[in-house]
Amino acid sequence: MKVVHTLTELRAARTELPEPLGLVPTMGFLHQGHLSLVQAARKECASVAVSIFVNPTQFAPTEDLASYPRDLEQDLRLLEEAGVDLVWAPTDGDMYPEGFQTWVSVEEVTQQLEGARRPGHFRGVTTVVAKLFNGVQPQKAFFGQKDAQQAVVIQQMVRDLNFPIDITVCPIIREADGLALSSRNTYLSPAERKAATILNRALKAAEKAYLDGERSAEKIRKVMYDKFQTEPLANVQYASCADPKTLQELEQITHGALLSVAVYIGKTRLIDNIVLLEMP
Ligand code: PAF
Repeated sequence: MKVVHTLTELRAARTELPEPLGLVPTMGFLHQGHLSLVQAARKECASVAVSIFVNPTQFAPTEDLASYPRDLEQDLRLLEEAGVDLVWAPTDGDMYPEGFQTWVSVEEVTQQLEGARRPGHFRGVTTVVAKLFNGVQPQKAFFGQKDAQQAVVIQQMVRDLNFPIDITVCPIIREADGLALSSRNTYLSPAERKAATILNRALKAAEKAYLDGERSAEKIRKVMYDKFQTEPLANVQYASCADPKTLQELEQITHGALLSVAVYIGKTRLIDNIVLLEMP
């Protein structure tokens, strides 16, 4: 496995990789969720590249950029074991050179959910992902369903800007008790870790209501809010029942839905989601 930092090193290493090349963009502190993306890339591609970059422009000044967990040595060990061919851990200077002033901004599908609560977040994500795509020039790229809105936004960007890249969105990987894997889970105290299962429990309760025949999106959202009421450590930011493509809140569920939640457990903000499939 080759590890490169500068763009010059990346370009030289890139020419040696057999195609199709799959890219897994990450912010490091890798867990089984990231490794499942690597596995998917291994299956579909002749070579696999992983980028590791904690992207400052997708964090608001009030967010956890400084404390975001980092462990490059451990990440490299895991990626080597997973059979990755190339790791690019770019320098800040290559990603945001002095005088940087060009941004990629997707409009409609960034207005709701995470975009509404984290102003500027998706502009940072799409800008850095466009730069990662330009640097690595993969044929395929792999993202997790855990960041459901991010996956929709990236797919929109790829379509709108004609990136010749096929995007695969891989399923959420969960702990045995249902908690979705996230680098931010490491912030949780033991009591908070237990309480954090409320995200999946609320989503599951809403899914059950849907499978039992409920089609009012308002009632489905209420099932989630009611469930969150039962967990004193949970402070809900939103519980949404939206169209999976436009991300607009629904009134009635006619063609499936994306249920998504953002919840503070203590000081840690967690997100999770479930897709409700269209029923015959
Ligand atoms: O999902 C992430 O880890 C990040 O948002 C990404 C796609 C690597 C961009 O920084």
